Amino acid sequence: MTSALSGTTAVLVGGSSGIGLAAGLLLRSVGARVVLVGRDPDRLEAAVSRVRGAGPAEGPDDAVLGVRGDGGDERTLAEAFDRAGHVDHIFITAGGIGGAGPLAGLSADDVRTTLGSRGWAPFAAARAAAAGLPAGGSLTFSSGILLVRPMPGMAVPLSLAGAVETLTRAFAVELAPARLRVNAVRYGRIDTPLLRSLPGLDSDDAVAAAGATLPLGRFGAAEEAAATALFLMANNHITGQVITVDGGETLV
Ligand SMILES: NC(=O)c1ccc[n+]([C@@H]2O[C@H](COP(=O)([O-])OP(=O)(O)OC[C@H]3O[C@@H](n4cnc5c(N)ncnc54)[C@H](OP(=O)(O)O)[C@@H]3O)[C@@H](O)[C@H]2O)c1
Repeated sequence: MTSALSGTTAVLVGGSSGIGLAAGLLLRSVGARVVLVGRDPDRLEAAVSRVRGAGPAEGPDDAVLGVRGDGGDERTLAEAFDRAGHVDHIFITAGGIGGAGPLAGLSADDVRTTLGSRGWAPFAAARAAAAGLPAGGSLTFSSGILLVRPMPGMAVPLSLAGAVETLTRAFAVELAPARLRVNAVRYGRIDTPLLRSLPGLDSDDAVAAAGATLPLGRFGAAEEAAATALFLMANNHITGQVITVDGGETLV
């Protein structure tokens, strides 16, 4: 895997935190060039500096780049590709639980706005991949196990995650003639800033106690989640697949 990724360039949309940042650290540590995309400038700058520190000191100046913007905006992706000059892989971890709320509390305008802006994001990524990745390149999306274990109030975010998994297969067949691969990772609960922003999960003890209920006895680490995306980037014969990383949570 290391030799397949060394010297490649990956755009990590959502790379300033959590799983995307962990992917940046792993990729840089195996000699890949990394472009981190995120909206918050301070978080992005801090992430760029952390990822720089994960690679060899003698790496090129552009070994780690930060591009500020909304990853669902084609202009942001175009800037990432322009600044990188050459891109082999795209990993999308931009997302979250925006749009959640009970059915009766949702307005048609809010739902249309969320589905419109966030529903477009995978298309923007796939169009950037189709236009800019070389044969052998890959696009990896993120989804979550709530898709198969839905909770009340999550209909809007889950419809977006469901679309991502469907689009993974649709884009995979559409982009296969160009020898591009498209996959997704379906995450269970992974210990990231996003998870720790949820009610009752803001301390190590709380995270450990909640994680102990999983078959493997803990929540996943961001590095474990990210390593699955690196595997999908590196393996040239996997496309249209969704791999679950959930510590066995959906087995029980
Ligand atoms: N952690 C879990 O337990 C879990 C479980 C299931 C699924 N997932 C999914 O896995 C993905 C990664 O989660 P995570 O836990 O790593 O989250 P995280 O720690 O909150 O990191 C998400 C990153 O995405 C960026 N981002 C969000 N929206 C963006 C946008 N529109 N454009 C560009 N960047 C954007 C955020 O930075 P800015 O806000 O500064 O842009 C941040 O860097 C998400 O899609 C999440 O829904 C996570």
